[in-house]
Amino acid sequence: MKILGIETSCDETAIAIVEVKNNSHKILSNIVSSQVKIHSPFGGVVPNLAAREHQKNLLPIFIKSLKEAKLFKLKKGIFGKKIKNKISEIFKKEPELEKNFLKEVPKIIPPEIDLIAFTAGPGLEIALWNGVNFAKALSYLWRKPALPINHLEGHIYSNLLKKNFLVPSQIKNFQFPILNLIVSGGHTKLVLQFNHGKYKVIGETRDDAAGEAFDKVARMLELGYPGGPIISKFAEKGNPKAFNFPRPMINQKNYDFSFAGLKTAVFYLLKDLGNLNLKIKRNICASFQDAVCDVLVSKTIRAAGEFKVKTIFLSGGVSANKLLRKKLKEEAEKINVSYSNPELNFTGDNAAMIALAAYYKKTKFGNKKIKILKAEPNLEFKNW
Ligand code: KG4
Ligand code: ZN
Repeated sequence: MKILGIETSCDETAIAIVEVKNNSHKILSNIVSSQVKIHSPFGGVVPNLAAREHQKNLLPIFIKSLKEAKLFKLKKGIFGKKIKNKISEIFKKEPELEKNFLKEVPKIIPPEIDLIAFTAGPGLEIALWNGVNFAKALSYLWRKPALPINHLEGHIYSNLLKKNFLVPSQIKNFQFPILNLIVSGGHTKLVLQFNHGKYKVIGETRDDAAGEAFDKVARMLELGYPGGPIISKFAEKGNPKAFNFPRPMINQKNYDFSFAGLKTAVFYLLKDLGNLNLKIKRNICASFQDAVCDVLVSKTIRAAGEFKVKTIFLSGGVSANKLLRKKLKEEAEKINVSYSNPELNFTGDNAAMIALAAYYKKTKFGNKKIKILKAEPNLEFKNW
């Protein structure tokens, strides 16, 4: 079974093709086009610019992905009027994507792809629609089923992604129930997972997401965007005990988080300090990172104990953070719970994770046709 994954929920345009055989998988291609340079001057993602870039980049990335997977074969052909009208209707709001689609896709022999998986949400609505409509048009043209995937479920399954064929015994090294700590630019969630498609959200952030806090603090320190990688780099040479930042909600019994207060504490410290030298910046980064990691790890470990989980999965863009990976692994070992984080090349947004999540969803969903394909910017975890 070959699955095409499409991801456009934020500022990464991504297409991947994943093959699943005898319950093991191989990534045939995994192309990610990052828009970091475009959004960087604004210190965060600008939705309209993200959507414009998706329109421009989807087709070239799609073709590159097919070529890499050796599924790209050309033919001579143009669309008939009926097909052309239908495609134009699908891309009503994405004229550049429509133009690129009509120019390139008629020339491609429909590849051996069994399923088209796309991110339906959560994410930026105007960005999501590009991926949704791209999936819709391909599904119509190639008569292949399209399956909507929750972006955060994709992050969870990034834990199982490996570059080469993953043999079933390797996949089995985790056991349900899993406790997922999903930390990204838009989300901070603790999600219990009892089986594929069986979830219970037990906690989330009440204000800023963990990645968002990294991005905002980096902006205050004028370090650039995205903040996570830069802050962790600066933190490597800083003293995590230099500043005693608050650990918001760490002692509260619930599993929610709050990072806005921590960000504000950094803001007031900067006001007091005035001019900053490199050493102070490094110390602020190290102390801030330490505070974020303490809260995330402490609550995750407590929840793992209370709900008696067998495995902890860390995922989302912030899961690239070395200190977080190290601390969580150490603490999980202490309570005898298996621990996993994604390989570093799969921590950020990508489409391979969407394709792999679709494989598990498909096995549960069978061939039930999804009638309405739409963007769901506020999509919650739903059981299937
Ligand atoms: O999952 P992701 O790529 O996109 C969203 O779905 O939001 O996450 C992006 C977030 C950004 O806020 C970025 O600053 C953060 O992940 N991030 C990190 C690190 N690398 C990326 N945060 C902390 N440490 C890192 N090494
Ligand atoms: Zn993400």
